[in-house]
Amino acid sequence: MPAPTSFNNYIDTHADAFIKRLGDAVAIQSISSDALRRQDVIVMGNWLNGQLNELGVETKLVDLGTHEMQGQTLQLPPAIIGRLGSDPAKKTVLIYGHYDVQPALKTDGWKTDPFTLVVDEDSGRLIGRGSTDDKGPILGWLNVLEAHKNLGIAMPVNVRFCFEGMEENGSEGLDECIQEEVKKGKDGWFDGVDCVCISDNYWLNTRTPALTYGLRGIAYFSINITGPGQDLHSGLFGRTVHEPMTDLIKLMSKLVDHNGDILIPGIDDMVPPHDEEELKLYQKMDYTIDDIEEAAGGKVALSSEKTTVLMGRMRQPSLSLHGIEGAFSAVGAKTVIPAKVGGKFSIRLVPPQTPEKIIPFVNAYLEAEFAKFNSKNKMEIEYLHGGKPWVADVKHWNFEAAKKAIEAVYKKTPDYTREGGSIPVTLTFAESLGVNVLLLPMGRADDGAHSTNEKLDRSNFIEGTKVLGTYLYEVGAAA
Ligand code: BES
Ligand code: MN
Ligand code: MN
Repeated sequence: MPAPTSFNNYIDTHADAFIKRLGDAVAIQSISSDALRRQDVIVMGNWLNGQLNELGVETKLVDLGTHEMQGQTLQLPPAIIGRLGSDPAKKTVLIYGHYDVQPALKTDGWKTDPFTLVVDEDSGRLIGRGSTDDKGPILGWLNVLEAHKNLGIAMPVNVRFCFEGMEENGSEGLDECIQEEVKKGKDGWFDGVDCVCISDNYWLNTRTPALTYGLRGIAYFSINITGPGQDLHSGLFGRTVHEPMTDLIKLMSKLVDHNGDILIPGIDDMVPPHDEEELKLYQKMDYTIDDIEEAAGGKVALSSEKTTVLMGRMRQPSLSLHGIEGAFSAVGAKTVIPAKVGGKFSIRLVPPQTPEKIIPFVNAYLEAEFAKFNSKNKMEIEYLHGGKPWVADVKHWNFEAAKKAIEAVYKKTPDYTREGGSIPVTLTFAESLGVNVLLLPMGRADDGAHSTNEKLDRSNFIEGTKVLGTYLYEVGAAA
């Protein structure tokens, strides 16, 4: 059942107001990984809570307690749990999103202020931190609620919400919060949930809407090397002491090959090879090497074979080196030997891998390799956070409903994708509620989530809002 024409018209005629609201959201610097911005994340949660209440959603803010970060004890931003409607004749959809964002500084290379939403009239781009990840999609749901409220039409389903403010920083406390809500059974707000929908990822390209049925998991590590009591002058101590950076660079160079192969024994082998049938799935996707290189902003694809690149992202693990804490990284040429360095890397995981299963391989390998150096420095491996991978059944009515919605709005059949990124809570919903979870992306592959000049195309925001609304109608009509 398609959405009523009045709904689609409302979305079209209120597009400017929706974009203004997105601007209000982007202006709040809700960076979850920066202790100095924690209060802004909390402000963002309160703003979102206020919006939900105005649109008729009953909410509760769940206090997730405190955590230690950057040498401080910080209040965690609240989880927002909401509900609207409890008609036993209707299906109940649980919607998840995150209101925190990644850090952004103008000096990273942004052309405009990251926290001022800029509407580029020529390209139709809405540029700002969080526009696509994940404020745009969250506001898409608010747009749907607003249209129904102001048109005076009932929602086609009962809706439950779960919004968090720590997704970009390990979703601290959220699993427990969800599990507790589920444990309350009939008295909990997640009672009777029939399916889950998450809009927090991207199309595979810039042309074709997608439905996503898999996400990689992640295990994030820091290799910490210490030795000297303080930073040293390299003129006085060069070739005199074991240097932490030298050990670290050598160790980090042993993690992954320049062609992407993971060098830690046992990790790549844990994943079963693909068969012919699976290969066909990748051949069918509307995707070219040009797409990936355009999204990456450089001609840097690991292979010229589209299936190899797609499988590398969707069904194989990957290991990326992220940075070195404590290393000299400012301008100029400082002749220092850093005393303490932390090399950050993470491994993206696919079934049957989990953080628990791969951690022992990482530890054993790094310890054995470091031992070979005969260094007098100390090496410690710190596991920072992780999440399990997730794969769903695309034959479920939840996916069928989303497919119909995309066909109705975009007049196109979606690509069925697995994603290389991670949303750890996805598996928690699937396992604790025992229902189908769907990822319904709003933005495009070139949106630049986490990057400079992050954007959401105006048409993706507006048509994407129609898709979210239509999806609810299709769920409402599903058998
Ligand atoms: N929206 C992304 C998840 C995502 C990224 C899905 C790319 C599909 C493709 C989410 O906000 C995110 O950035 N997740 C982190 C999670 C991590 C910190 C545990 C990620 O994937 O790095
Ligand atoms: Mn996200
Ligand atoms: Mn993100």
